[in-house]
Amino acid sequence: MTVIGTGYLGATHAACMAELGHEVLGVDVDEKKIESLAKGEVPFFEPGLPEVLQRTSEVGRLRFSTSFEDAAAFANVHFLGVGTPQQKGSYAADLRYVRAAIESLVPLLEGEHIIFGKSTVPVGTAEEMQRLADSLVKPGSSVEIAWNPEFLREGFAVRDTITPDRIVVGVRPGASQAEAVAREVYATPLEGGTPFLVTDLATAELVKVAANAFLATKISFINAVSEVCEAAGADVTLLADAIGYDDRIGRKFLGAGLGFGGGCLPKDIRAFMARAGELGANEALTFLREVDAINMRRREHMVQLAKKAAGGSLIGKSVTVLGCAFKPNSDDVRDSPALNVAGQLSLQGAQTTVYDPQAMDNARAIFPTLNYAASAKEALQGADLVVLATEWREFVDLDPAEVAKLVRNAVIIDGRNVLDAKAWMDAGWTYKALGRSL
Ligand code: UGA
Repeated sequence: MTVIGTGYLGATHAACMAELGHEVLGVDVDEKKIESLAKGEVPFFEPGLPEVLQRTSEVGRLRFSTSFEDAAAFANVHFLGVGTPQQKGSYAADLRYVRAAIESLVPLLEGEHIIFGKSTVPVGTAEEMQRLADSLVKPGSSVEIAWNPEFLREGFAVRDTITPDRIVVGVRPGASQAEAVAREVYATPLEGGTPFLVTDLATAELVKVAANAFLATKISFINAVSEVCEAAGADVTLLADAIGYDDRIGRKFLGAGLGFGGGCLPKDIRAFMARAGELGANEALTFLREVDAINMRRREHMVQLAKKAAGGSLIGKSVTVLGCAFKPNSDDVRDSPALNVAGQLSLQGAQTTVYDPQAMDNARAIFPTLNYAASAKEALQGADLVVLATEWREFVDLDPAEVAKLVRNAVIIDGRNVLDAKAWMDAGWTYKALGRSL
């Protein structure tokens, strides 16, 4: 098989499919990315992926190329994992990379081919891509477009791909090879009992955005409750524990704090709203506007809290922000709440120093004006205020007594509600958190 697009999704899919025993060619137009992957180096941070990449490359099951001619000649099964970012000036998804991949590959194909879309797309895209492919394919050859949404989480991408919690395949009406081919591709997880759902194309496309919209809603729900907790003097973390024991609710994704970011949840809820509007179902998803607004308010609220904790003004204050990735175990800073807060603190006059175990290079590229420290210890030196913005294990495990010796003022805001509040207060810290009055 080929995997077209070798970002977080495609590179992981390519390496993991090779790990499952398939012969894989990863294809991308980005020469630097392909050069790096071909050398066995993953150009981003994803635990466990370098090992899989190296292992499968060494045995010759995984190769990389920038050539669509190579892709067309290599396989009859193709996976599409290119990006679908938010369009500039609109909520809708930008499908230019999906279209470009079809336009580059399909005219070169000979014989019968199947393309499984994995990218997150607005409902109706697969049908549109089928029409595009039909208009481009050589006479006598054929291309079937199917949709196989991806549910992997950054930080757990290898595990989520090798042992997914479900496999969804959307197939076109009438004659289709997609189900049979997908069963072969995913034979290993299917033998392990992974649920396999075959749907129409529209349902498969919607499953993905609905899943992400639900996760975003869950996070914003608890963050909205967190605002009420703060106003009422209650504790959102205990509340989440208590409601989480109801297994209809569940404790996962009830982590109140700085809210969600990254390359998926924010843009997916917006694209979902935009598509619903195009389909005439405007009212159906207006609640997602509120989900988005609650989420964006978190960042604002954190900056206000920091200002208050700094004595009413941030000007000239040394503020240390621990973490700038959008979540731990990732170097991704796309729409990162942590980096956004660091940027706002700096714009309001704070001397802002950031440390993150993995995301420093990506952050520096976006926000070159912040101070970047080489370690947590260095970042904490002389701080007037500490903000925990990404819950890396390294930060959760910090010893409050040791950290107190480094800073000027022992004041911390736990933006992710992960620290042991009592231990920090016992060590002499003024401890503040979102949604808790302590
Ligand atoms: C998300 C989905 O979880 C995946 O299933 C999906 O495949 C992926 O998007 C995608 O569409 O490709 P990911 O973006 O890796 O995965 O990140 P999540 O683990 O979902 O976290 C998203 C954000 O929510 C992070 O900023 C995280 O800090 C925040 N979050 C998460 C909370 O604020 N509270 C929580 O309780 C959980």
